[in-house]
Amino acid sequence: MSSLTPSAPPVRFLNYQFRCIGCAHATESAGQDFRCADCGDLLEITYPHWKDAKLDGAQVKFIWQDRKISSNPVDLSGVWRFRDVLPVIDKEEQTVTLREGNTPVYELPHCARITGVPRLFAKHQGMNPTGSFKDTGMTVAATFARMSGFRWVACASTGNTSASMAAYAARGGMRSLVLVPEGKISWSKLSQALDYGAVTCQLRTDFDGCLKLLQQLVKQAPVYQLNSINPFRLEGQKTLAIELMEQFEWRPPDHIIVPGGNLGNSSAIGKALLEMKELGLIPRLPKLSVIQAEGANALVRTLRENGGKQLISVAAETRATAIRIGNPASWKKAARVLEATGGACEQVSEVEIAQAKAEIGAEGIGCEPASAVTLAGLKKLVAQEFVKPDETVVLVLTGNLLKDPDYTIEFHRGDLFGDERDGELKSLRRPPIALEASLDAVMRTLEEAERF
Ligand code: F0G
Repeated sequence: MSSLTPSAPPVRFLNYQFRCIGCAHATESAGQDFRCADCGDLLEITYPHWKDAKLDGAQVKFIWQDRKISSNPVDLSGVWRFRDVLPVIDKEEQTVTLREGNTPVYELPHCARITGVPRLFAKHQGMNPTGSFKDTGMTVAATFARMSGFRWVACASTGNTSASMAAYAARGGMRSLVLVPEGKISWSKLSQALDYGAVTCQLRTDFDGCLKLLQQLVKQAPVYQLNSINPFRLEGQKTLAIELMEQFEWRPPDHIIVPGGNLGNSSAIGKALLEMKELGLIPRLPKLSVIQAEGANALVRTLRENGGKQLISVAAETRATAIRIGNPASWKKAARVLEATGGACEQVSEVEIAQAKAEIGAEGIGCEPASAVTLAGLKKLVAQEFVKPDETVVLVLTGNLLKDPDYTIEFHRGDLFGDERDGELKSLRRPPIALEASLDAVMRTLEEAERF
């Protein structure tokens, strides 16, 4: 670390500006904390030239489609394929990509019956290279880190960001530093960061404590932060929504439902929807709704208890460890896009999450617990008649089933919570069956299973 000095290369840009979400002050460069030097609020990326440039919607849609059959690595990326609405990179060969994006949209017939919403779909971001939606943002932010000449990148994480960052850093020839809460992230995610070569610190604090420490670190060392406070991350994550609209042939669904943790992803999806509407790529806005775990419900409380004026932080606790966050950094950005699209914000219990996860699993798709809040939340939004049975709904599944196998196994064995709540979920459980290695025993098991 002796080569680390505080004289980090400044973050430069070409076709975009940084704008403060608080005072709207626009700048051409950003400090390492990605906050406004005047008022301290978060920065976002804007594209001032869009006002004058007349984007030919039909043409750009054709170009995006056409790039799918190119053999150029940036065209094969489901993120950089949409580079016309992303920050420009001056040297394409510098792009750090693992062919992220290009994720499937699945019909969910089983969950459609359960919820009474026949047109129900999942956009599965768990099908990204490292198994979560983080890769779409990481390709952009890691590319800018590399182009700016950083040797070190760093993040605080509940697991997925660190897995993704470690992979992209390795691909881009950079070193990575991970700060995770000790004992509170899944082994799968931790193992990814280790395998991709990150320096991994398990800190005796929660995610919020890790993020706070990172903010201090980036001011003292030339370490580029890759949390979603970094607005380049959100630009990449926008492409989830763009790709989704393309998959729906530019006829927007009525609702998009997304889990909320640090609230970067909802902010990015909302930004993309608003930009697509502004550019004339979609005729109307879907409603974007955010679902949180009851034990990590900072945004729910902030919107309900003070109309979104000031963040109400919570001491977060949930088995959906990816969203175990009590002080979400991007709460203001998320609150704005919810308001702009007319979306809702709901919370769901641990039992509701576990049940929804099993129901998505039974579709042959699966997801990690944090992603399942979307289905659990949809059930509530249908009960409140916010979502109508004849509307089209897309759930954003943010992480792969294999991200948290302990949760799944404990669920099926019936010891997820270790209390009476496990009993409530009995009908959905499929525990492994230990048997003598005899044909007879297997035949009897098959016959018994047939009866259910
Ligand atoms: N779903 C999964 C699987 C996640 O990993 C996260 C966040 C979220 C949802 C929430 O997204 O923070 O943009 O609102 N994971 C982060 C991490 C915090 O460190 O991996 P968000």
